[in-house]
Amino acid sequence: MAIAKAIIGGKDSSRATAKGKPRHFLDIKDFDTASLRRMLDWGKSYKAGGAPAGAKPLAGKTIALIFEKPSTRTRVSFEVAMRQMGGDVVILGQAESQLGRGETIADTARVLSRYVDAIMLRTVSEKHLMEMAEHASVPVINGLTDHGHPCQLMADLMTLEERKGPLAGKIVAWLGDGNNVAESWIHAAARFGFTLRLACPASCKPPESALAWARKEKADLQLGEDALAAARGADCLVTDTWLSMSSGNAPDLDREARLAALAPYRIDERVMAAAKPDAIFMHCLPANRDREVAAAVIDGPQSAVWDEAENRVHAQKGILHWCLAQG
Ligand code: CP
Ligand code: NVA
Repeated sequence: MAIAKAIIGGKDSSRATAKGKPRHFLDIKDFDTASLRRMLDWGKSYKAGGAPAGAKPLAGKTIALIFEKPSTRTRVSFEVAMRQMGGDVVILGQAESQLGRGETIADTARVLSRYVDAIMLRTVSEKHLMEMAEHASVPVINGLTDHGHPCQLMADLMTLEERKGPLAGKIVAWLGDGNNVAESWIHAAARFGFTLRLACPASCKPPESALAWARKEKADLQLGEDALAAARGADCLVTDTWLSMSSGNAPDLDREARLAALAPYRIDERVMAAAKPDAIFMHCLPANRDREVAAAVIDGPQSAVWDEAENRVHAQKGILHWCLAQG
């Protein structure tokens, strides 16, 4: 994401902010491991009942949450996190703002920056996020694009660490569509030193740009098409919907062809049994029990999905702390 690097100055986020840039949270790969570690630790501290900068570190601060796509978890977890930290929220759907009538993202960014202290954007286009970050004078947080879901990943990393201990050396197997969440897993694998096995049909692999980035960063990434081989001995199996809100990475495939190609990647009890006996199952939700995961797995004893969903609140407190509360 060349534009993001220009905006926040690359991996060294502290250097970028020293130049007076807003503390954007656009992508896992924009940060070095130490910065991500600090955010996760702040999140853990908030979860444990502590607050690193006082009981209500965001008192007097407001965040705008803008949704160009639907959301349950992202919307509610950001609102709850912000309020519990003493702050306030304004929620905008595209249809109810002038964005829906063609006002530019740039002008929206300039205006909102005069009203609020941070902007979270869930967008249909990576370009919208970049434009918002370029023109906002307050921190912009990525609430999901077609190429990443970094807030989700911070919650996922927190959950994996809670359940399985230190991330380095763990084996995570992603089965199914090489989508936006998979791309964020790739970024996280590079930053936290775990093995990421991706088992995806040829038509639904992550974009070559993400794979090339992983090679450059020397991430321990294994890409194949065999779901059982990927699951074997893994600490964590993870998947996501086969039909993302956007068209996904294979716009040439129609819906039925996409579902047929992904069918062998469903995580059922047989696939789960190939992982370590104490392996966990994760899914960012919303889930479809008829497709990517069997009910026996997502509703079974190895499922961590409800902790994972809860951790959106705690992990986002760590992100909000980095963006708004850190001195
Ligand atoms: N996982 C996730 O981002 O869920 P929502 O689409 O409900 O926000
Ligand atoms: N890959 C999914 C994630 C939803 C939280 C989507 O983009 O629709």
